[in-house]
Amino acid sequence: MADIGFLNGRFMPLAEAMVPVEDRGYQFGDGVYEVIRTYRGVPFQLEAHVARLERSAVAIGLPLPFRAAEWSSYVAEGIRLAGYAESKVYIQLTRGVAPRDHLFPVGTPPTAVMTVRQMRSLDPVLCATGVPVITVADLRWGRCDIKSLNLLPNVMARQQAKDAGAFEAIFVRAGEVSEGAVSNVMLVRAGVLVTAPADERILSGVTRAVVLDLARKEGILVEERAIRVEELRGADEIFLTGTTVEILPVIGVDGVVVGTGKRGELTRLLSHRFRSFVE
Ligand code: PDD
Repeated sequence: MADIGFLNGRFMPLAEAMVPVEDRGYQFGDGVYEVIRTYRGVPFQLEAHVARLERSAVAIGLPLPFRAAEWSSYVAEGIRLAGYAESKVYIQLTRGVAPRDHLFPVGTPPTAVMTVRQMRSLDPVLCATGVPVITVADLRWGRCDIKSLNLLPNVMARQQAKDAGAFEAIFVRAGEVSEGAVSNVMLVRAGVLVTAPADERILSGVTRAVVLDLARKEGILVEERAIRVEELRGADEIFLTGTTVEILPVIGVDGVVVGTGKRGELTRLLSHRFRSFVE
């Protein structure tokens, strides 16, 4: 078993994968990315991730170096070469290597990078007992639907959460909850599942879509609408969704207990449905 790197169509040990200093991903954050995990060795919702990668690339005018089917076979090959029971696949596409200039370089091929590492799931105790979160001002740009490499506000927010003894930072813009620094946010009030609409203020999470689907199949009423930050306080349950957090109960917001302070019933039900779905 080994960490695997991939650079523009070539696989290699991860430690040998090198990108030049003038790569625009490095100098401008000029690129997009995806994080995909496996369950039982199979990449989860691969098509949805590749489709989102393509949407992100098109949205920033980045030419796609590979077709969807090629991405799928590269991901499969990376997972096979790495040989882990469960893998975490990172794909990054940048506008290539060129002398530093804000203007798009002409005739420069994009840089395609992939890394495959062992997927380490969150502590199951954490997933059952839940985590505290804090709210922070959403200082990001107006196209959070693009999975851009520019993650400085997310990095700052997540560190702020950690420093405050919390797991995640929830972004709030103009009094409304958008999403977490690395996750989407859902709340339950009077049996209704509420989450922010998939507009330009959030990343349309692959896990979010799966969870909403499972909830609807369960007959749970789902509302995709703006969430006032005060609603977090009055929520019966809150949970996060994402590739790395799956379904993670939130038991406190800014030091105030959510619901009973334990994982809620609906969160538990959806976690079980999610587990069955992925397995
Ligand atoms: N992030 N919102 C943001 C801002 C995210 O960064 C992520 C995931 C999500 C959840 O999306 P998905 O369910 O498709 O993973 C929502 C990845 C895991 C990351 O940056 O590491």
